Amino acid sequence: MATPHGHAVYPGSFDPPTNGHLDVVARAAQVFATLTVAVVVNPQKRSPYFRVEERKELLRRCTAQYANVRVEHFRGLLADYVKEIGADVIVKGLRVVSDFESEMAFAHMNRSLAGVDTMFLMSDSSYSFVSSSLIKEVFLQGGDVTRYVPAVVLEYMNTKRHANGRT
Ligand code: PNS
Repeated sequence: MATPHGHAVYPGSFDPPTNGHLDVVARAAQVFATLTVAVVVNPQKRSPYFRVEERKELLRRCTAQYANVRVEHFRGLLADYVKEIGADVIVKGLRVVSDFESEMAFAHMNRSLAGVDTMFLMSDSSYSFVSSSLIKEVFLQGGDVTRYVPAVVLEYMNTKRHANGRT
């Protein structure tokens, strides 16, 4: 493994963080000297399951073992945020071909806007079907999502469900 260098931003909704996300963090943290996991504040998404502060706290707990990983949030354009914090590169996970189609447009746009490249990591094949939205759907219908989210996230989801009076 080459010496880690540069500052990468790993952006996302992380609602909630999944094992797929954490796998990308673990691998990117070995490649880049600094990795900022950036939670988007997206006013267009009407019903997030977790508030941004909750997602950040969960991500912080799940990434506490990596000294070079920090967790932040951003509003507006990712391209502006990348410039603002002086990051060198955006990092994303790619699960399936349909991810590639949208990510290619995002990558071109961000490079055009901010002159920043996007580097992709192939998601671990065991997480190729894992998405935050699917996790929420399965969990809220009573399915077992133990294998797909970090233990701390599952614990928090259960706490929240009980607090909301759902069974
Ligand atoms: O986890 P998600 O929801 O797939 O993450 C999507 C995210 C946050 C990477 C994307 O929506 C984003 O970059 N949002 C910020 C607004 C922006 O820059 N939009 C133009 C993208 S080229």
